[in-house]
Amino acid sequence: MTRSNIILVGFMGTGKSATGKIVARRLEYKFLDMDSMIEERQGRTISSIFATDGEPAFRAMECDLIKELCELRNLVVAAGGGVVINPENIEDFNRTGVVICLHASPSTILARVKVESHRPLLEDGDKAKRILELLESRKALYDAIPYRVDTTYLSPEGAADKVIELYEEATGTILSA
Ligand code: S3P
Repeated sequence: MTRSNIILVGFMGTGKSATGKIVARRLEYKFLDMDSMIEERQGRTISSIFATDGEPAFRAMECDLIKELCELRNLVVAAGGGVVINPENIEDFNRTGVVICLHASPSTILARVKVESHRPLLEDGDKAKRILELLESRKALYDAIPYRVDTTYLSPEGAADKVIELYEEATGTILSA
C-alpha cells in the first residue's frame, strides 16, 4: 500500500489549511479540508454541530470521515485540530499517508485566531487562556508526531516548502523541482 497522502495535523491556527492548499497546488494533489467537508455534508457550521449535537458527535463525524479519506490517494488533507485526541485517527492516517504536525507559539496562534469566531472550543471565556489550556492538555499528542514544522516565523509558502521536504524524506521520493 502506498502512503501517498499528506495529512497536516496540529493545533488551531498553525496554518494547516493555508499551507495545505499551497502544497496541493505545487504537487498537483487534491486538497481537502476536513472541517469544510463536515460543514458541507451536514449543511451547518462546526459551531452549530457542537452546540446542537455536542463535541462527541462531532468527533464521531471526524472519525468516519478519516476512514473514508484513507481510501483515497494523492491527497493533501488539512485535518481538524482535535483529530489527535483519538489515536485510531492517527493510526488510520499513518496507513495511507505521511502525517505532519504543524505547530506555533501560543502568542502566534492567538494572533492568528483572535479575529475569528468559528472555533467553538475557543469561544468560551478568554481566548488566550483557552489556547494555553488546550495546548497543554494535547501537548503529548502533538509531540508524538515525528514529522513536525514550526510555522511561528514561516509564511504559508515557507511552511509548504518544509512540508514537501518532510514528505520526500518520509517516502524516499523527490517531487519538487
Ligand atoms: C478543533 C479544531 C477545529 C475544528 C473544531 C475543533 C479542535 O479545526 O475541527 O473547531 O478540537 O482543535 P481547525 O484546527 O481547522 O481550526
